[in-house]
Amino acid sequence: MKPTIYITRKIPDEALQILEEECNVKMWDKEDQPVPREVLVKETREVDGLFCLLTEAIDKEIIENASHLKVVSNMAVGYDNIDVETASQKNIMVTNTPGVLTETTADLTFALLMSTARRLIESSNYLRAGKWSTWSPMQLTGQDIHGAKLGIIGLGRIGQALAKRAKGFDMEVYYYNRSRKPKIEEELGLQYASLEELLSDSDFISILTPYTAETHHLIGEKELQLMKSSACLINTSRGGIVNEDALYSALKQKKIWAAGLDVFDEEPVSLNHPLLELSNVVTLPHIGSASIATRKKMAAVAAEDLLLGLKGETPKHLVN
Ligand code: GLV
Repeated sequence: MKPTIYITRKIPDEALQILEEECNVKMWDKEDQPVPREVLVKETREVDGLFCLLTEAIDKEIIENASHLKVVSNMAVGYDNIDVETASQKNIMVTNTPGVLTETTADLTFALLMSTARRLIESSNYLRAGKWSTWSPMQLTGQDIHGAKLGIIGLGRIGQALAKRAKGFDMEVYYYNRSRKPKIEEELGLQYASLEELLSDSDFISILTPYTAETHHLIGEKELQLMKSSACLINTSRGGIVNEDALYSALKQKKIWAAGLDVFDEEPVSLNHPLLELSNVVTLPHIGSASIATRKKMAAVAAEDLLLGLKGETPKHLVN
């Protein structure tokens, strides 16, 4: 008998087809609306497999309620939305989609860094608002990227891919990571720094570490105080790594120069969020991996791993 699975959003056709060939599929088929919690609870009760997104909290309640569940496949590299500990206790496999999104997310991170440094969004809005009356020496001036110091927090795959891009811009690249990576340091010409050194010396600080209990509010008031007044903070990981109240104060009081944020503590971020009032913040709606090709690959990887797990084989990207 075919296994039954639930898919929590409309996914690319190619991935859906792979799944439909081997499973009885039920899907929340809306593109721009997450599955309501009560529907998710009800639909997962009897399924063998779950294909989900980072927008769904696959918590203790869902996992304990789903008595047949064998595999949870998350179409994302981050899996902080899943209670992996409870899943492991229940022998449920959890998978993610690393690798396929590395370069695309590094591209976006560098684009956000550049937009923040050179005030691209603000400049475009300035023009459209009819404020461009003349060319002027210091009008809309930003920070240089070439030759600047970049500090990367978290030297995983995306951190390394970002470092390569930065090297192409003649940046000096520092990194902080739980464990030092001497081979990669040498290969890419990077320098290791303590978190404090990195924060106080960098012109650009890029957050690319996973979100865990340990990295919750890793960047708070004390850390922001250490940064240069010309520093730009770029977050393309998870919003919870930065204390947003402290960030707002630091930006408002010009303790740091600007921030580029693709992620927020609560997503979608409320339009009343104070960070959205500030002109020195570039905001994006969590689009790090959003290229057409990459999103299709992520869906395919998540589908393949879900099927492997359902067949009792080891998925390629098992996290527990
Ligand atoms: C996106 O944020 C991901 O974790 O894949």
